[in-house]
Amino acid sequence: MPPSFDVRLDDLTGARAESREAAQDSDSILAGPPSELGVNKSPTRHSPAKAARRAGSQHHGDGAWSTHPVLGDERTFYIETFGCQMNVHDSEKVAGVLLGRGYQQVETVDAAKLVFYNTCSIREKAAQKVFSRLGEFRKHPDHGKVIGVLGCVAQQEGLAQLEAGNRRVTGLDTDTDETFETEMTRRDNPFRAYLTIIEGCDKSCSYCVVPYTRGPERSRSSASVLEEVRKLAGAGYSEIQLLGQTVNSYRDPAPRGKTFAELLVTVAAVPGIRRVRFTTSHPRDFGRDIVEAIDSVPALCDHVHLPVQSGSTRVLRAMQRTYTREEYLEKIALIRSARRPISVTSDIIVGFPGETEQDVAETLSLLDAAQYDGVFAFQYSPRPNTASLQMGDSIPEEEKGRRLAIVQDRQREIQVARNNELVGQTFEVLVDGASRRPGQWTGRSSSNRILNFSSPHSDLLGQYIQVRATGASPNSLVGEQII
Ligand code: SAH
Ligand code: SF4
Ligand code: F3S
Repeated sequence: MPPSFDVRLDDLTGARAESREAAQDSDSILAGPPSELGVNKSPTRHSPAKAARRAGSQHHGDGAWSTHPVLGDERTFYIETFGCQMNVHDSEKVAGVLLGRGYQQVETVDAAKLVFYNTCSIREKAAQKVFSRLGEFRKHPDHGKVIGVLGCVAQQEGLAQLEAGNRRVTGLDTDTDETFETEMTRRDNPFRAYLTIIEGCDKSCSYCVVPYTRGPERSRSSASVLEEVRKLAGAGYSEIQLLGQTVNSYRDPAPRGKTFAELLVTVAAVPGIRRVRFTTSHPRDFGRDIVEAIDSVPALCDHVHLPVQSGSTRVLRAMQRTYTREEYLEKIALIRSARRPISVTSDIIVGFPGETEQDVAETLSLLDAAQYDGVFAFQYSPRPNTASLQMGDSIPEEEKGRRLAIVQDRQREIQVARNNELVGQTFEVLVDGASRRPGQWTGRSSSNRILNFSSPHSDLLGQYIQVRATGASPNSLVGEQII
């Protein structure tokens, strides 16, 4: 049995009271998405200075702090995150709680006493990753670490499977209404702050686990969103990314609350905020008011991620996506009618059960019509509990791979052509990385394009600068700073 720890795992996992004993002497803890887990419930605020003081102290009141002789090693954690941006943000919240309790984040499993995996269940391969990680621990039963499995796999299917490995499992408290409070979030990107404004999903796409792993839609009040944005601006963040699986289905719970478009405009008006992004938008709830907001407020980024999934109305119907090919293309036309160009990106699934050659051809022609600036394409993967599970998995993996390559090739051609047209144009870039080669930097435009550029200046990180594009490749532009 591993030693007990001064951080109460149930504070992190939201474990129910009756599960606490199990939580404390098990070597693997399972829980749902950390955003569901009441990580906010602790009264401790994250303060690095306080955390450092605590790390050296031994406090015995109500079991909050332990008497471990080797405090340094015992109070370390490692967290690995899979899946979407919302999972990345959830991991930031978990890290924030632990840092606030004097724990130190380390870069390797070996150096850590507490090891967390924040998992994704969207496709089978994603889900398998956590099982292969846990398999490594089983090979070394005396590893002496506490392993925590958070996120969508834990929620979806992990409980039974991991229990079989003689591990105890905690319960899950999903009925917190304080899901969104993020006072102790440790943010990984120093310039872009993520902020979840709507949790869960009420759509029922037939292939998708998210409604099962993340539960129904719950929106955070606009007042609370704005309060956090002001704090983030005060802390020096200039770019905010609003998150939600269907971010534009946002419904302000306050009486006479803001629409999503109104929320965008208000967030963009917070002093200090220079860029506001949002992802992911669902085509059904994507209206003219969002385009008008982007048109009238320069701080709203000129980029919309609007996944289509398929160009065939027949397949869209089987996917229960709630729109036809034509209705989707009308949304694209709406975006293209904006006064300033808006970059559009998408997700595509190939190999959905029953997808024909004709359906694939329609997806290819939709790529031509939509003129996306980026596409994430995936091979269909049957997932537990989903409606499409009943439809079988009729397209062989090899054929799915062939279709994926065709879609990616066509999209690459489109991006090469589109990016070449941008050569010579000037972009405002938020610099977020330095290359190992001196004088070389990388950053993103408002439209979320990556620009790799040269500059004679040093210390550009976090700055907004003007860059002229001098060359193009399918996924990025190269350029030089305009001095
Ligand atoms: N909420 C977003 C996307 C969520 S998941 C939306 O509605 O668009 C991200 C992407 O994973 C999806 O857009 C879809 O393209 C892909 N995806 C989801 N379930 C999948 C599955 N079972 N097999 C393959 N790809 C899947
Ligand atoms: Fe999944 Fe569909 Fe919800 Fe997106 S909208 S999270 S694809 S169910
Ligand atoms: Fe995100 Fe994967 Fe869960 S995409 S919501 S972490 S299933």
